[in-house]
Amino acid sequence: MNFSELILDWYDKNKRVLPWRSSKNPYKIWVSEIILQQTRVAQGISYYNRFINSFPDLKSLAQSNEKEVLLKWQGLGYYSRARNLLHSAKYIYKNLNLKFPCSYDKIIKLKGVGDYTASAISSICFNEKKAVLDGNVFRILSRIFEIDSPINLSSSRKIFKQKADFLIAEKRYGDYNQAIMDFGSLICKPKNPLCSTCVVSKLCKSFKNDSVTKFPVKTSKNRIKTIYYEYIVFENNNKKMIVKINHGIWKNLFQFPSYTSEKKQSKNKIIQFFINKYKLRELNISLYNDKFIEHKLSHLKIKSRFWKAEGNINLEGQIFTDIFKDYPMSKLMHNFVEKYIKIH
Ligand code: ADE
Repeated sequence: MNFSELILDWYDKNKRVLPWRSSKNPYKIWVSEIILQQTRVAQGISYYNRFINSFPDLKSLAQSNEKEVLLKWQGLGYYSRARNLLHSAKYIYKNLNLKFPCSYDKIIKLKGVGDYTASAISSICFNEKKAVLDGNVFRILSRIFEIDSPINLSSSRKIFKQKADFLIAEKRYGDYNQAIMDFGSLICKPKNPLCSTCVVSKLCKSFKNDSVTKFPVKTSKNRIKTIYYEYIVFENNNKKMIVKINHGIWKNLFQFPSYTSEKKQSKNKIIQFFINKYKLRELNISLYNDKFIEHKLSHLKIKSRFWKAEGNINLEGQIFTDIFKDYPMSKLMHNFVEKYIKIH
């Protein structure tokens, strides 16, 4: 048997039972692949079930709104995925008569869909011959062929793409793509790969040369930037003020008003910032958390403090609430509210 036959044979015996695998409905596969773009399968399952329960088909998603969709996505991160899903669902509803596009070339035109996701959907749902290239596949290929081009450089992509296209099965393209992803997660793992039970070890150059631990090669990462978030909690009649974020990764989520800075700021500076911003006469603040709360994202580290504004503050036209569950929030905000503030 060749590589793809061995992998498919392994898959038939060992595949994971996952909720989206019982269907070839492109809407459901699309939702699952968008969730799995930046989320591990174990965490993605409950979000997938929650999402599909609320939006069982394209029409129900297309007819919802951003607030509802973000509430279901809350905690999963990379919120542009949810915004793009909604945008594309509305597009398919209005312009494609609710018919999900049925080829790679059309699917890749949807907002939020790149080569990986279009290859996954078109192969799984329409049996199109498109090899997926995700982190699992990069790792497997680098070990099988001892490819020393760093997997995190875009210039390496062509080399890996060629190998992926070379190895893809001659049939069952969707199964093959899912097989190689499962194989990467369960056998050819990043750490401690299970070479002794691997069905393709005899085809694996790095296994033969005892160099598995050297692959995949990565260039050293850029230093991750630190950003300071100083949140202020204004209160009025036991309700707290929140604002809608209008740009960036947390666009359209809600949070307490914040002062963002690349360096640590003094209490006085923070007070001055909020006095100016909200045209207050005076402001006294005290800390909820003595130590900075750290929140790591893939490209930056956020250090945050939450300050309580003393006294009742009346700010016209702002949202004051004590029902936080009605507002989608980042995980950072959600964790704080759960820990320090009563949540309804
Ligand atoms: N990771 C991303 N998509 C996947 C899929 N369809 N099966 C298993 N792992 C995945």
